[in-house]
Amino acid sequence: MSETPHNKQLYIETVGCQMNMLDSELVVAALRKQQFELTNDIKAADTILFNTCSVREHAEHKIYSQLGRIKFQKRSRPNLVIGVMGCMAQKDQELIFEKAPHVDLVVGTGQLGEIPKLIDEARSSRERQTALSLDRKGGSRESVANSFESYDPLRDPEMRPSPYQAFVRIMIGCDKFCTYCVVPMTRGPEQSRPPSLIASEVRTLAEQGVKEVTLLGQTVNSYRHTEDGREYRMSDLLELIHDTEGIERIKFVTNYPKDMTDDLLQAVRDLPKVCRYLHVPAQSGCDDQLKAMKRGYTVAEYREMMQRINATIPGCAVSSDFIVGFCGESEESFQKSMALIEEFRFKNSFIFKYSERPGTKANGLWPDDIPEDVKKRRNNEMLDLQNRISEEDNAEFIGTTVQVLCEGASKTATKRGDADSDSPSIQLVGRTDCDRIVVFDGNPRLAGSMVEVDVHDITATTLLGSIVTRQITHGMEIDLPVVS
Ligand code: 5AD
Ligand code: SF4
Repeated sequence: MSETPHNKQLYIETVGCQMNMLDSELVVAALRKQQFELTNDIKAADTILFNTCSVREHAEHKIYSQLGRIKFQKRSRPNLVIGVMGCMAQKDQELIFEKAPHVDLVVGTGQLGEIPKLIDEARSSRERQTALSLDRKGGSRESVANSFESYDPLRDPEMRPSPYQAFVRIMIGCDKFCTYCVVPMTRGPEQSRPPSLIASEVRTLAEQGVKEVTLLGQTVNSYRHTEDGREYRMSDLLELIHDTEGIERIKFVTNYPKDMTDDLLQAVRDLPKVCRYLHVPAQSGCDDQLKAMKRGYTVAEYREMMQRINATIPGCAVSSDFIVGFCGESEESFQKSMALIEEFRFKNSFIFKYSERPGTKANGLWPDDIPEDVKKRRNNEMLDLQNRISEEDNAEFIGTTVQVLCEGASKTATKRGDADSDSPSIQLVGRTDCDRIVVFDGNPRLAGSMVEVDVHDITATTLLGSIVTRQITHGMEIDLPVVS
């Protein structure tokens, strides 16, 4: 069947982590090359894709209810193709067709390159299409790893969240097997991409105007790849890409505490473009819980790592993830996590209520025994504590001047429609070198440039300020705030 512009309207919904955002960007870029256009109107689309997450049950429910909502659209629009891609697709496979028989294609995280072809086939044959990698127990490590392809084609600059920022995948998969986590199953064995490929991708992005790259991996600091007889670790990779012309900032997420080596900390200290910001999830502040989670470190070892970070990179911001209500978490265990937050004063923490995941070790070994109301209370208490700390630490910035990479219109300005107006001054947003969000007024053309902002006020999540402009008066340089 020949494609007409009419059946090239794509609606895509993405849930989950930055890895998923990158996957969606790449799939959309590939589909644009096949003349697909993006639409925000699900009813106007003839191809609907859901890029899914399986880390918590709630994310899966959301997708099934979305699928339920569009079930009847197939009747009036026989040409419609509905696809489920990503983690849930890899994990649940046939179950998706059972629960949502109107789905046409199921494509796992390691097979995203197949999507354009499968959409065509689904539309022309009206038969279900599947592309999945092997199950972790479906063969030798090598054959399973080979069935997960890193999908990183050259991309379309229009598809990035901002033209100045881009994600770059440096690893796929995970072999840590924390007992609560489904990712080793959904994203397959840990594999690092060749440094030469990563460096050339960063160069291409820089040529397209990207100023900030964020290197992505489930445990990004476990990066290890041998090329031309030389082993590259994360610190070597940072050094390799550091001098790329046009790149002003380099970040990397997410770090695994055990792999936070001294050479990496020294690289962050010595390479000026690398942000002084590390996301190193602790998950719990209780040794018994850490052991049950199979995280591979104790609180004392995490503390030792924090001491090395603070000693090597003064002023480095550290953020964390915590799970509350994991199997057997007593009130005392929970209080130990609270004490860890007090001790290390994280810049921010992402806090999650434990969600039992079929197929994980914890699910086979222990009951999900913490009642939902207790999980909720612990979650709220931890959030309150972290917010208080973030607010107190942000207050230290009042009266200082920070360097900000301006990302463009703030969410508020975009919602108000200011971003599309000709106004010479709108509310802008950017981040400091230590990943703090800064909101200030200024000309929308500042997007993509480094600006200095005087901080006047703060919240737990944001620094609020005004741009410093430099004016030469009688040979003297003075600082003037922009009047908005
Ligand atoms: N339940 C709740 N949170 C989880 N995470 C991973 N698996 C689960 C789970 N089963 C959290 C961890 C991880 C973050 C991405 O999601 O804190 O760091
Ligand atoms: Fe999941 Fe642990 Fe791997 Fe992170 S390190 S992706 S929590 S298994």
